[in-house]
Amino acid sequence: MTRTPIIAGNWKMNLLREDVSAYAEALADAGPPGAQVDVVLFPTPVYLELAAAAMPDWAAVGAQDVHAEDGGAYTGDVAAAQILDAGASWALAGHSERRQYHGESNDDVARKARRALDTGLIPVICVGETLEQRQRDETEAILDAQLGAALEVLAAADGAGIGAVVAYEPVWAIGTGLSASPEIAAAVHGHLRRRLNRHQAGLGDSTRILYGGSVNADNCRDLIGRSDIDGFLIGGASLDPASFLRIIRLSTGSAGGS
Ligand code: PGA
Repeated sequence: MTRTPIIAGNWKMNLLREDVSAYAEALADAGPPGAQVDVVLFPTPVYLELAAAAMPDWAAVGAQDVHAEDGGAYTGDVAAAQILDAGASWALAGHSERRQYHGESNDDVARKARRALDTGLIPVICVGETLEQRQRDETEAILDAQLGAALEVLAAADGAGIGAVVAYEPVWAIGTGLSASPEIAAAVHGHLRRRLNRHQAGLGDSTRILYGGSVNADNCRDLIGRSDIDGFLIGGASLDPASFLRIIRLSTGSAGGS
């Protein structure tokens, strides 16, 4: 099955207004990638509207988080409908920094993803084990629990023709410069795909599974060379548009980009 690759940039709590505008200009100047690929940028909510308006039409915008409820008394949170209204079309759910610093449970993450999906956003469900969990040989059990809570949403996204998306981001690889090897990442992606296929025939084959954790221009080609790796969620190396464009070009073998 052919799955359209996704190259996504997670800016986290970085960049200011002028950086966002300059970034969009750099992408527009580079022109569309000469290959089939979904390009998505995840700015802070403050700049969602700006980014959505400024980006060239081949680069989509998404939110780094989304609330599970459709509105109400949730100070500081952002509703899926507001994200959509700002011009964004994607949303991350359950990034490890949200799980770690905001105590999001597997159940919370599934509810957030469900709200995003029901509102018309494409949810990206993030999973990943910590170093301690990997050392204790708990990786598959942790991932099964994280993915297990979200299986219904992923099946619903697939059924809606939206195309379900999972991001495997080992916590030990995020922001550490220690990317998972292509072998380790591919083994986990294979495991996740089999789990999805067990839940619903074909779900694992159609779901796009991204890798995230210290992806850069030097390691992206080897990682995406693995058939089970459908693209990337990139933090640090996405902050500079030239670096992000280079990763798009190297990962897709496209002629576009700078
Ligand atoms: P990193 O972050 O590329 O800086 O490791 C990835 C992520 O957290 O999405």
